[in-house]
Formats: sequence, C-alpha cells, structure tokens
Amino acid sequence: MVSSNISATRAHKINDIQNLKNMKKLVMLTCYDYQMAKIFSTVGVDIILVGDSLGMVFQGDSTTKNVTMEQMLYHVEAVSKGAGNIPIVGDMPIHSYADKEIALENAQRFVEAGADAIKLEGYFPETISYLVEHGVPVQGHIGLLPQTYESFKVVGRKPEDHDRLLKEAKEIEQAGAFTLVIESIPELLGKEITELVNIPTIGIGAGKFCDGQVLVINDLLGMDPDFHPKFVKRYANLFDIISESVRAFKKEVKNGTYPEKENVYE
Ligand code: KIV
Repeated sequence: MVSSNISATRAHKINDIQNLKNMKKLVMLTCYDYQMAKIFSTVGVDIILVGDSLGMVFQGDSTTKNVTMEQMLYHVEAVSKGAGNIPIVGDMPIHSYADKEIALENAQRFVEAGADAIKLEGYFPETISYLVEHGVPVQGHIGLLPQTYESFKVVGRKPEDHDRLLKEAKEIEQAGAFTLVIESIPELLGKEITELVNIPTIGIGAGKFCDGQVLVINDLLGMDPDFHPKFVKRYANLFDIISESVRAFKKEVKNGTYPEKENVYE
C-alpha cells in the first residue's frame, strides 16, 4: 500500500517536471543501489536515473552494450526501495526497444520494478509516442549515444550533425517526451536545442545553458582515478578516502588492534 502511494506521488512529479522549464534548473544523477538512493532522497535531487552506465561503473565493462533488461530491473528494484518520492527513470538497455511492441513490454517491466518513466537512447519518435500513448512517460536522449557509437567523443560539430540534432530534438519533443538528455555536444548547440524545445533539456557534457545537468554518480564522487573526461567535475575523491579506510582496517586486523573492546560481545 505504502509503495503504491509513493509510486503515485513520483508519477505525479514526473508530469510536473515538464513544467519546470525556465523555472528552475533540474538535478539528475545516476543511481544503482538502495543506499545511494536513500542519500539522494535525503538531499532531494529532482530525478534519479538508473542508467545503463552501470555496465561500465558497476560491472567493469568498457561499454554499455552488454547490459540486459534483467540487470536493469534488478537495480531499479533496489533503487526504488531507497528513493522515497524522488522520481526514477529506468534506462532502456540496448535491444530492449527494437520495435515499439518490444519497447512497450519492456517499459512496463521497468514500471513494475519501480520506475516512474523510462529513457530511450536515440531518434525513435514513433516508439516514444507509442509508449506515451500507453501511459509510460519517456525521457529522450540525443547526441553521443553510448549504446551505438563506436567511441566517446563530442558530436554535433559538423553542420549536418548540428542540423540533424536540432531536428531530432524537436521531433522527440513532439512525440511526447517529458525531458531530453543531450550528451557530449558543443555548448552553443546545447543552448540552441534548449531554446528550440519546450521540454527541459538535461545535459551531460552539453554546457551550461541546458535546463538541467546529469552526471554519473561514481564520476562526481571520484571513484575511478583513471576516468576523468572534461565535462566531469569531481566533488570528492572517494577513491582515496575508501582506500585509506581499507588500509586502516587492514593494518589493524594485521596488528591485532581491531576488534577493540567496544566491538566485541560480552
Ligand atoms: O546510462 C547513463 O548513465 C546515461 C547518462 C550518462 C545520461 O545515459
């Protein structure tokens, strides 16, 4: 009973997010587990994205191309237990929206697992309008598309790509998407897209003019010293902090100072 009430509140918030364009900046972060969702819920971010980036930061692959529906649903279920009333977007993995019927079936599985909306990578306006008609809110995603691109680089610098992205953004909006993620494009193109569409744009490597920003939480926290693209700002260095704690535990176990008196049962 409680969870269905929470879910109704979140679904309501998804609808409200669209109206926040030009009102306030949106904060979206990726999340893959219960405890992090609980932190986001305490802080109060606007949207939680259970991104297929988990294939890279959680599973250790070099791409998102091997992530499956089952893996995504597992993480959505965990996140939904900690998210409180923060709306959750589930990221449709590669092959899960091969046609619109498959997309609807999988989107409904996301909703059953606890997502309030889904994100779909690429230019698929027909699929988006089909999902929206069937009651599933959709977040679009254009620019760099990790599921299909060969390498991670800025897109939209060539005139033909610039024009294509503007067209895609408008058609995805017209198909009924409630927000649009734009990834790795020049800042001024991010501005043009943001001014062109009436739904909030959420940028990742798309500059400061977007209506909101999203980062992969592991990048923001500095979990991997070997991964530092230009668009990421590190707000912490958890790699070092965690390493220090593990080192201290190791030392105390080896020298017998852990457990201490207060850590043992009488
Ligand atoms: O999978 C993901 O985390 C994403 C974000 C980078 C937008 O799609």
